[in-house]
Amino acid sequence: KSFFSAVGGGPPPSPSKRHTKITVVGVGNVGMAIAQTILTQDLADVLTLVDANRDKLRGEMLDLQHAAAFLPRTKIHASSDYAETAHSDLCIVTAGARQNPGESRLNLLNRNVALFKEIIPPLAKSSPESIILVVSNPVDVLTYVAWRISGFPANRVIGSGTNLDSSRFRFLIADHLDVNAQDVQAYIVGEHGDSSVALWSSISVGGVPILSFLKKQQISYEKETLESIHREVIESAYEVIRLKGYTSWAIGYSVANLARSLLRDQRRIHPVSVLAKGLYGIDGGDVFVSLPALLGRNGVLGVTNVSLSDEEVKKLRESADTLVHLQRQLDL
Ligand code: NAI
Ligand code: 2OP
Repeated sequence: KSFFSAVGGGPPPSPSKRHTKITVVGVGNVGMAIAQTILTQDLADVLTLVDANRDKLRGEMLDLQHAAAFLPRTKIHASSDYAETAHSDLCIVTAGARQNPGESRLNLLNRNVALFKEIIPPLAKSSPESIILVVSNPVDVLTYVAWRISGFPANRVIGSGTNLDSSRFRFLIADHLDVNAQDVQAYIVGEHGDSSVALWSSISVGGVPILSFLKKQQISYEKETLESIHREVIESAYEVIRLKGYTSWAIGYSVANLARSLLRDQRRIHPVSVLAKGLYGIDGGDVFVSLPALLGRNGVLGVTNVSLSDEEVKKLRESADTLVHLQRQLDL
């Protein structure tokens, strides 16, 4: 006898056919921050965790499952077998080596490319219609690697890119002006990391373009002051890694924010790593770098034509060239 009686004597209703499934590969600091933000924000009906470390994987799954009484309902699975990830709508890849204090993201390349050669084929095979969202570093080159290995169309392979750097940037500007960071529109584009490019010409606060505002108010600002805010963004991750060993909370929220825009077809604009060949004069080859992109259920729906100053275009091309140079050394 079933626990519940059927209503009207008929068979019990079958579960709703439409459900959203997210897979997170890598249950380290970053994967778990993303998983827990996805759960608290009710973004998935099914969450599947994958990791090579089976004990940690099962431990993390159980620990999250034990919070079920306090969370929206989500089925949580964990397996080191990619068959469990089948029919995912979104696959988020966070597995891999992370930086030691003072180490650059680019230094992780060879170790993490080797892992991607193991991870991406079974992931793509199990969910051929999914969107792959790469977080592991160096995120731009690994997004290129995931695109090449998966054979997916470029609109369905995205790197978390400078969505995080832009959030750090918005925080610092907001803190400076003592306003809410959500009212600050500001983008960092290019490589996620050391050669990123701050788009000063398009920053606005509450709809007011900031550079012309400062000029009109005759508030003098030094280029050096602006550059120091950007330098602080670049230094942020190094500082957090030096202090606590890794970064996790901000990337957790940043990726959940991307997951919402993608899966709920929000058509919001995020600076994320996309195939940028041919855009803004980037002509060195197939390269993924962050540009402000429109995100929806089909992945990248388009790239915004922001007007950049000549200097910003030059820096963006240099940032892309740095990545192309690294990609040339890869054996894929
Ligand atoms: P972590 O060391 O805490 O976790 C890495 C996880 O990957 C471990 O659980 C490990 O068992 C797993 N793993 C290793 N090889 C695997 C394989 N073949 N298959 C499945 N799982 C495997 O590292 P953390 O702190 O979580 O960082 C992960 C990555 O995310 C690093 O590359 C880090 O640099 C990057 N990251 C990227 C950010 C971004 O903005 N794009 C922000 C923060 C970190
Ligand atoms: C971050 O920016 C380390 O890429 C990582 O937090």
